[in-house]
Amino acid sequence: MKEKIINLKKEFLKDLDGVNNLGELNEVRVKYLGKKGYIQELSSIMGSLSIEEKKEYGMFLNDFKNEVNELLEKKRQELEELELNKKLETEKIDITLPATDIPVGTFHPLTRVIEEIEELFVSMGYDVVEGPEIELDLYNFEKLNLPKGHPARDAQDSFYITEEVLLRTHTSPVQARIMEANKDKGPIRIICPGKVYRRDEDATHSHQFTQIEGLVIDEGISMAHLKGTLEIFAKKMFGEDRTIRFRPSFFPFTEPSIEADVSCFKCDGKGCPLCKYTGWIEILGAGMVHPNVLRMSGYDPEKYTGFAFGMGPERIAMLKYGINDIRHFYTNDMRFLKDFNRIEGSDE
Ligand code: DAH
Repeated sequence: MKEKIINLKKEFLKDLDGVNNLGELNEVRVKYLGKKGYIQELSSIMGSLSIEEKKEYGMFLNDFKNEVNELLEKKRQELEELELNKKLETEKIDITLPATDIPVGTFHPLTRVIEEIEELFVSMGYDVVEGPEIELDLYNFEKLNLPKGHPARDAQDSFYITEEVLLRTHTSPVQARIMEANKDKGPIRIICPGKVYRRDEDATHSHQFTQIEGLVIDEGISMAHLKGTLEIFAKKMFGEDRTIRFRPSFFPFTEPSIEADVSCFKCDGKGCPLCKYTGWIEILGAGMVHPNVLRMSGYDPEKYTGFAFGMGPERIAMLKYGINDIRHFYTNDMRFLKDFNRIEGSDE
């Protein structure tokens, strides 16, 4: 028995010596310590021995088993260290290799223009508010002095959902909503960016586009305030040298109504294809809030006056960046978006 154990130990040491990796080490472990391994086999033989023999060889076998465990563990540590070193050796990072290009998204051109406009008005003390895109006829038209059957309704080809509900055709209904919601009927200074919808589509019209509405109400607000405000806006968006002019126009919710033009930033007003040789470019519609609109939302037109304006950020962006088709904003052609980033720089 003793001899058997001594021979087994020799064999074990030889086996251990031949081990080159953790997989092989495990094989050796199973061979000696496994359920059907050599040591287990010797233990079962032990059962048939006399008590004295059991005592003598039992201890001997136990020592051997402990030694096997210890040596296996030592070898495992050695191998692990070796494998780690090998890994570190082969996984060196070559920092001189060119980096792979990871594409990073940026803000959409339209988002940038809207945010730029928002920032300007916020710096002048305006609040940014929003209204629903699915709107009641009541706010989209009636409270804006456009009663049912008013011919000016036809100018805005609407998407109706029911007779009283439609996709808003402009952001102007937010004017009525804000005035109505203002419980103390005090001063208001807001802009409202958002999506609007019309049955229209070509290079300069889209069935869905965005508008930014502005509304200021207070005692003593006049056309001069409107002009001063829009002049600041035009200079910020199109350059310090810009001037603006008002042309008379018509909107049912303002009286008087105007359209504002900015002096052409391409030719400085001398005349070029962009301004169609007029020296001026139309940028928005505006006017003094109609007394009926004030009254319908609970404001006293004897006490308060106000101005309002509505502009299309797409048009502002198209002018500012020389974009010739409004559909570029919505089709998400990566070439357009990338090109735009190249012009504008992607500092965000
Ligand atoms: N809502 C008008 C439109 O979509 C634009 C507009 C014109 C808004 C004059 C105004 C305004 O607030 O005063 O055509």
